[in-house]
Amino acid sequence: MRDPKRVAILISGRGSNMRALVEQATDYKVALVASNRPNSEGLEWARGQGLATWALDSKGVEKEQFDRNLSGALDSSQVGTIALAGFMRILSPWFVNEWRGRIVNIHPSLLPKYRGLDTHARAIEAGDRVAGCSVHLVTEELDAGEVLGQAEVPIEPGDTPESLERRVLAAEHRLYPRILTGFVSR
Ligand code: GRF
Repeated sequence: MRDPKRVAILISGRGSNMRALVEQATDYKVALVASNRPNSEGLEWARGQGLATWALDSKGVEKEQFDRNLSGALDSSQVGTIALAGFMRILSPWFVNEWRGRIVNIHPSLLPKYRGLDTHARAIEAGDRVAGCSVHLVTEELDAGEVLGQAEVPIEPGDTPESLERRVLAAEHRLYPRILTGFVSR
């Protein structure tokens, strides 16, 4: 049985958003932390917390095959909601269809602005005064699903992509747990 309040967090690297989701979990349970990078920093932290983890190196594995294995692991954990948190892989159409409406992601821009990578450099380059982050539903089109919530962050004079990233990341850590909490009950 897929239980919406049992959440899997998918990561590839540092995992700071995963950590925020774990530390601020009230109305949902983090049932699994899964990664396509078996040695990622975030996964080490999750193991240290005693969380259930799953990892499969995606290098050299055919995309849909990886996704079918992942989906099996999610079902074994009775997961009903998937939160992508720095998961650096585009999911296959098969996976998106299988979990339609149940996958969310956090993206470091005010969507629909700056889909894809290098969002902070692009916002500074464009002369924007405000940046931010968005939690959105995942569909087949990259960073294009329904926006569930956003937080704005000012761009200060002299900001670099790195300084802006730090400020936006702090906002991500507040936004994501709040929006996920609402999402698991909808
Ligand atoms: C964050 O900036 C997030 O918005 C983006 O990838 C980054 C992940 O960072 N999707 P972390 O692994 O959560 O620290």
